[in-house]
Amino acid sequence: MGRLLKGKRSWVLSVAALSVAGLFARTAPVVAADANPEGVKLFEAKIRPILAASCVGCHGEEKQKGGLRLDTRENMLKGGKDEDKVVKVFDETTPAKSLIIEAIEYKNEDLQMPPMKKKQSMKLTDEQIKDMTDWIKMGAPYGEKPVVAAPK
Ligand code: HEC
Repeated sequence: MGRLLKGKRSWVLSVAALSVAGLFARTAPVVAADANPEGVKLFEAKIRPILAASCVGCHGEEKQKGGLRLDTRENMLKGGKDEDKVVKVFDETTPAKSLIIEAIEYKNEDLQMPPMKKKQSMKLTDEQIKDMTDWIKMGAPYGEKPVVAAPK
């Protein structure tokens, strides 16, 4: 009897702990963005222009290459699609390991973003890669307005 009760109690406790953890997991990114004025400043000064010029033309309102949109944080968090599988592009536990960083570093021949054009590298500049990486490590806060693709 005692054991049964104890089992039940720890079950209730772990359910409670899980729901709290779930709550945090869900709210943490939002908090990170809201409580991150420095990050939003970096976004508006450096990241929005990069996304607008180099990414959102293929990952935005008009086109969603790889099923991915990078125009808002919410869309970025949804990730891309490979057939029916979701492809996470931002790693909420370890942002430094995010697929977005791997893609822009151009080290993985199977995933280089922006993609090569007529066999020419379209790799971002070292400074842009550094800014994007810093921003992702900050939790990838976005500004209020969605990113709109820059006219070509
Ligand atoms: C010319 C169109 C084009 C541009 C510009 C572009 N991408 Fe992509 N992206 C693609 C395509 C197509 C895929 C699907 C996978 C593949 O074919 O390599 C993809 C896939 C990805 C993926 C892997 C997840 C998935 O959904 O497959 C990431 C991450 C990504 N892009 C990030 C970026 C970032 C960051 C930029 C800007 C620096 C960017 N892309 C610019 C076309 C583009």
